[in-house]
Amino acid sequence: MAYITYCDSPAFWQTYLHEPASIGMEGILIFNKHLLFLIIIIVLFVGWLLSFTIYYFSEQNNKFHTNFVHAKELEIVWTSVPALILLLLSTPSFTLLYAMDEIAEPELSLKILGHQWFWSYEISEFNSCQKKDQSLKYVCYMMVLDGLPKNKQGYFRLLETNKRVILPTNTHLRLLVSAADVLHSWTVPSFGLKVDACPGRLNQLNLFIKRVGVFFGQCSEICGVNHGFMPIVVVSLPTLQFHHYVMTKLELGQS
Ligand code: CUA
Repeated sequence: MAYITYCDSPAFWQTYLHEPASIGMEGILIFNKHLLFLIIIIVLFVGWLLSFTIYYFSEQNNKFHTNFVHAKELEIVWTSVPALILLLLSTPSFTLLYAMDEIAEPELSLKILGHQWFWSYEISEFNSCQKKDQSLKYVCYMMVLDGLPKNKQGYFRLLETNKRVILPTNTHLRLLVSAADVLHSWTVPSFGLKVDACPGRLNQLNLFIKRVGVFFGQCSEICGVNHGFMPIVVVSLPTLQFHHYVMTKLELGQS
C-alpha cells in the first residue's frame, strides 16, 4: 500500500470505502474485493443466460415447439452450485468475523460513553491514587460552524469535535462502549469498527491502529434529534509521542 494521501474522512464523490488503518479493516477490504470479483462473474453469467432466454424464447424466434417442461438434472445443478458458492464464502467470512472479535492482551482501555448528543471518553490506566483529579477524561462535542477557526479551510463541517480522542499506534487497545441514556453507535470507518452503545450494557472492541492519522466517524444509531451531530474524531500518535502527551496532560492536570 502506498498512498499519497489517506482517505480517513468522507470525500467528495467518494464511491469506495475509507483507507484502512487497522488489521480488521484491511481484512474487510480484501474480502470485499474477492466478493466483488465473484459477484461480477455471477452477474455476467446470469445476465447472459437471461438475455439468451429472452431472445430464443420470444414468439418470433420460437418457430419449433417441443414438449420440454423441466429438467431434473439441471435443477439439481442450479440449486447446488449456488449453495456450494455460499458454503465456500462462509469460511473466509466467519474467519474474519471471529478474528475481529478476538481480544488480544490489551495494553490500554478506552472507555466510550454515548450521551444525547455527545461522546465522553476516559482512559483510566494512568489514574493515580494520590492525585484524584489527574485522569484522562474528556467530553467531545461537535464544533458548530461558528466555532471553527476563521478560514474554515481543512475543517470538516459537522465532523469536527472540540476535543479529539488521542490513541497510540501499534498498541493493542480495548474499547469499552456503553451509553448513558439511549442507544448510540460508535463508528469509525477507517478502523472497520461499528458497535452499539447500549445503556446498561458494556460492549467490548479490539483495536490495533497501524498508522498515524486523524480518523473521522459518526454516531450510527438513530438516537434523537441531534443524532447527526455527534461526530467522532480519533487522532493516532506514535507510541512515544502518545506517552509524552499523557505525561504532559497528567502533570498539568485536567482542565
Ligand atoms: Cu448518538 Cu445517534
